Amino acid sequence: MTQAEPARSWDLPLWQSLLPLGRSDAGGYRRFSFTEADSQCRDWFFGAAADRGLRTETDRNGNLWAWWDPPAAGLPAGHRDGPESSPDGTGVVVTGSHLDSVPDGGAFDGPLGVVSALAAIDLLREAGVAPVRPVGVVAFAEEEGARFGMACLGSRLLTGAVTPDAARALADADGVTLAEAMAEAGLDPEAIGPDPGLVSRIGAFVELHVEQGSALAGMDAAVGVAESIWPHGRWRIDFAGRADHAGTTRLADRRDPMLPYAATVLAARTVATELGSLATFGRVVAEPGAANAIGSAVHAWLDARAPDEETLKELVSQVTAVAELSGNGHGVTVTSRCESLTPSVDFDLELRDRVVAALAGQGVDAPVLPTGAGHDAGVLAAGLPTAMLFVRNRTGVSHSPAEHADPEDCEAGVVALAAVLEELACR
Ligand code: GLV
Ligand code: MN
Ligand code: MN
Repeated sequence: MTQAEPARSWDLPLWQSLLPLGRSDAGGYRRFSFTEADSQCRDWFFGAAADRGLRTETDRNGNLWAWWDPPAAGLPAGHRDGPESSPDGTGVVVTGSHLDSVPDGGAFDGPLGVVSALAAIDLLREAGVAPVRPVGVVAFAEEEGARFGMACLGSRLLTGAVTPDAARALADADGVTLAEAMAEAGLDPEAIGPDPGLVSRIGAFVELHVEQGSALAGMDAAVGVAESIWPHGRWRIDFAGRADHAGTTRLADRRDPMLPYAATVLAARTVATELGSLATFGRVVAEPGAANAIGSAVHAWLDARAPDEETLKELVSQVTAVAELSGNGHGVTVTSRCESLTPSVDFDLELRDRVVAALAGQGVDAPVLPTGAGHDAGVLAAGLPTAMLFVRNRTGVSHSPAEHADPEDCEAGVVALAAVLEELACR
């Protein structure tokens, strides 16, 4: 493509075909890893890849791959274990995102990157452009950590950021372990683990994602480029008290775990405000959950994000200190542990410059933005050059059915991604 080509309408059959899968009653999506909805999404991915004649595989960690090979490259013997290197040794180019969702998540978070990747390949092919090095489209498993608690699990396993033993032992809310869920889905949990060979063959990873804030909504720009990701993580805090009768237990005699939990939620807000950071309790489980009984325990999850790692540490330490202090005052035992941690990410400057230049070549002046949202690109950034494109979200809302991107902006995203893939993989 030499000039900004208009993409076909975003009323793409491909996008439409994904929309019904895993839809929840709340109007969002419940596409949890290794469930029936996830299996439908996996079938959708392989169907879309097959329609395009792309070579496909599921890696040992349950991540899905589809490969667009250079026409003359052929497939060397044994390619089934992974992509061949690019002929000139610069590495293959990978794009994509994830298909899993948070509970009642929006349609765009993740799937927009996967659909746009396939649509960008369509666009390049229609323009008669062919790759000179393989282009991979990936859908990473369990990016949201909505089922097993650890965000970006598929990319962490691939890169060795989590050990196979630790991953296998992760359990969902019903106590089903990752190992059991993978086996149930027909995958081999004993095979999970890092694949340095595959990672070392990737020269660049570019993830397109719906913007999860409103920076672009206030600008005359449908597409932005990522600069950095705030360090962030999840901590599980357990408050163990004593179950008792709500009508007969004097207030002074109670060991009510709900009280230190409530104090901790309020403290998280105060401390985050003071430190210019973000702290959220979005998931809480009260046991045994009777309306007429003091709870025996409260399990709560703190999502904390900050502009730098020092501040993040300070934020979490202040919040957990309040939890413990308040727990002591109420006879409640408090324990906390980190479930996942992503250090601060600065995306590769050289790759970002190439992405910005490729967009400028299409007449697109893309703003460069930091973000507080986590992504597989952030995990891969520790080991290889990565970049991200953000597509404007008019509502600025994400992790909610209200998440939205206009069709024209989705189209602009495909055109932008196609320009980037052409620059990275086709010359
Ligand atoms: C992923 O979307 C995250 O930032 O939690
Ligand atoms: Mn998300
Ligand atoms: Mn996402």
